[in-house]
Amino acid sequence: MSESVTESGLPLHPLYGPQTLQDWDAEQQLGEPGQYPYTRGVYPNMYTGRPWTMRQYAGFGTAKESNERYHQLVAAGTGGLSVAFDLPTQMGYDSDDPIAHGEVGKVGVAIDSIDDMRLLFDGIPLDEVSTSMTINAPGSVLLLLYQLVAAEHGVDPGKLTGTIQNDVLKEYIARGTYIFPPAESLRLIADTFAYCRQELPRWNTISISGYHMAEAGATPVQEIAFTLANAKAYVQAALDAGLDVDDFAPRLSFFFVARTTFLEEVAKFRAARRIWAQIMRDEFGATNPKSLMLRFHTQTAGVQLTAQQPEVNLVRVALQGLGAVLGGTQSLHTNSYDEAIALPTAKAARLALRTQQVIAYETDVTKTVDPFAGSYVIEAMTDEIEAAARDLIQAVEDRGGAVAAIEEGFQKSEIERSAYQVTQQIDSGDRVIVGVNRFTVDVEDPYEPLRVDPAIEAEQAARLATLRAERDQPAVDAALAAVQAAARGADNVVYPLRDALAARATVGEVCHALREVWGTYVPRDAF
Ligand code: 3HC
Repeated sequence: MSESVTESGLPLHPLYGPQTLQDWDAEQQLGEPGQYPYTRGVYPNMYTGRPWTMRQYAGFGTAKESNERYHQLVAAGTGGLSVAFDLPTQMGYDSDDPIAHGEVGKVGVAIDSIDDMRLLFDGIPLDEVSTSMTINAPGSVLLLLYQLVAAEHGVDPGKLTGTIQNDVLKEYIARGTYIFPPAESLRLIADTFAYCRQELPRWNTISISGYHMAEAGATPVQEIAFTLANAKAYVQAALDAGLDVDDFAPRLSFFFVARTTFLEEVAKFRAARRIWAQIMRDEFGATNPKSLMLRFHTQTAGVQLTAQQPEVNLVRVALQGLGAVLGGTQSLHTNSYDEAIALPTAKAARLALRTQQVIAYETDVTKTVDPFAGSYVIEAMTDEIEAAARDLIQAVEDRGGAVAAIEEGFQKSEIERSAYQVTQQIDSGDRVIVGVNRFTVDVEDPYEPLRVDPAIEAEQAARLATLRAERDQPAVDAALAAVQAAARGADNVVYPLRDALAARATVGEVCHALREVWGTYVPRDAF
């Protein structure tokens, strides 16, 4: 029987048996579900009590079009919303900013002001749903717009629940939607932690993400190691800002990928929970059990979708989704089979959700907690991934921590090296991609993609012109000046941001006010 290696480059033996776990201590290593070190899951009863949240990432075009898709998803049974924003919004530019040309409404919904946010959630009961927003550098800005709209509907802010991704460190490493330099970004994130502790206690203030690093080529070990190293930097920044660890840590959350190699993925999730629980208890002295729980969202692997024979992606996504569930995810997005080609059609989005519903309601994996516990291969892989990830976290710490390592380009170069190896394996045929380098067809079936109407850019610009004409401009000017005064000083900048947005300042205007004070980040390798 031939030896092989996992995605992380660890040995994957053709046979495991009792001798694999002869030194393994179930009491020490495993523990009980819902108890430290949470290897088996963060809740005692996991899905036997409540299935994970089926949370489909969606958003495109104008707020009105995205609102229609959200109503379709809620009608189809999705449990939580997940907003995709267009690049101008993610980068803090208004739709009528010249730099936004051609990107308005393209990879997500265009949100310029409170007016757009009102439309986005029209008819959605914000006191009943939890809403994730994939927004980073201006994460606090979009959260405030969400809170302002919820307040207009009389929703108690203490009951408002959801998540902002708000994880700028991984943007420097792998995704690119950063605005401000690291120190100012960490300050805004710490201010947001403090604001939510005070004003929005049920809001998950950050979704520390490994997903995008994985999509850029990170192995499972790199994915969790770089994510947890970033998480340590956020915790330290909040402590440095004077917050108490148990005041903000319970509302930290995480976001990982689920690859098709789902045995290793199950082990990866279990190892990540165990590492984080130990770091929070022993390195940061957290005592609230909720501070030790690594609660996470999972999205199936976008880069593993193929444009060739796209229906085969339905099988890949089902296996990836199953891996996430067997690994104990709290929330899951299953990709649509056509996403390698274009924005998902309504039918493809519904099939993606149905995939989760089959796993949840037709299989038996929700009837028992952590079904792989005690498996020779899974427990061995969990231990091996844990050891390798701890070594890599230490390598980041040896470079001065996540921010210093980012400035050095360490994480990025490690991920690029892994990505290159995968590309070589695909090109050589050593790594089989069904429909791409094996089992291909001569003629692909016809497919009609969903198209975003380019006219929406003019529609958004017209909405902004009306907003600017109608609002109390002196009030907006004064509010923006207050934002800059807070940004220059030490006061929590999130409060004046809220006042400016309530006065109908736009996303671009408040971000520009901060850019003028804090500047923008220019990566060293940009020259
Ligand atoms: N026993 C007891 N309580 C339970 C339970 C159980 N079995 N299951 C759930 N609960 C409780 C929880 O304690 C929670 O209560 P609380 O809010 O009072 O604490 C409530 O039920 C909801 O459960 P969860 O918090 O587990 O589930 P949510 O879905 O609400 O939250 C999360 C999950 C991971 C913590 C949260 O941060 C989240 O939803 N994240 C989603 C992030 C996301 O969608 N990101 C999309 C990224 S797409 C992207 O990046 C772009 C593209 O390029 C990929």
